[in-house]
Amino acid sequence: MALCPRESQLIKRMSETQINTEPPQALSHDPWESAYLRFETPEEEIGKFIGRLNRLGAAQWPRDTEIVELFCGRGNGLIALERLGFTRLEGVDLSPRLIAEYRGPAKCIVADCRKLPFEARSKDVLIVQGGLHHLPNLPPDLEQTFEEMQRVLRKDGRVLFVEPWRTPFLDFIHFVSGIPMIRRLSDKMDAFATMVENELRTYKRWLNQPELIRKVAHHHFVPVRESIAWGKWNFVGMPR
Ligand SMILES: C[S@@+](CC[C@H](N)C(=O)[O-])C[C@H]1O[C@@H](n2cnc3c(N)ncnc32)[C@H](O)[C@@H]1O
Repeated sequence: MALCPRESQLIKRMSETQINTEPPQALSHDPWESAYLRFETPEEEIGKFIGRLNRLGAAQWPRDTEIVELFCGRGNGLIALERLGFTRLEGVDLSPRLIAEYRGPAKCIVADCRKLPFEARSKDVLIVQGGLHHLPNLPPDLEQTFEEMQRVLRKDGRVLFVEPWRTPFLDFIHFVSGIPMIRRLSDKMDAFATMVENELRTYKRWLNQPELIRKVAHHHFVPVRESIAWGKWNFVGMPR
């Protein structure tokens, strides 16, 4: 497969041996959570989120926008939003261990995103970065989560999703991260492959139903921006 220079650069970065001085995996005994914690350092993840939020239009939002990061994990998306100047932030995630890692001003709630702990029409923006593909039952869980998001959003609110998507780049990363020697040489690739192994059922089901997922999303939200690139689906929409 011919790769453009940016693709080769990205793949090189993915395969470089990571020397991580922090021991975050000590905080979790769940194999997926341990791998997730060593896949990227918090600063790498925050930098990635800031770039992504800017690309998807967050720079234009008023800084007092009420934003909830759903499936927020250890809260690096919230730190990215805080660094962009947003002041009214909340997070929701199912994992108390990941939420306990967050250090910042946002209020974080341990809850299931299929049943959001918020009043109707109370939030301006709901963000999901890599959470929807963890839902076990497609499409019912996705329908339920989107219905909850519609309920909680103000009429002129926005949703922003960034989720894994099957593209040639993602296929290549799956192929490379499946090579045992690459896994031995690169902690990042090993963490990626371990995450995939531990979420295989939901992850594969998600990647194999792109049309259904987009149909459900478009049924609940009017797209404002939508793109598929670099193994990601990027969607910004308004509630219908
Ligand atoms: C890939 S992580 C993404 C975390 C964060 N958005 C990020 O990019 O750093 C997926 C997260 O979804 C959470 N999760 C899975 N199912 C959930 C549910 N039904 N409700 C809330 N959180 C859930 C997991 O605990 C995990 O933190």
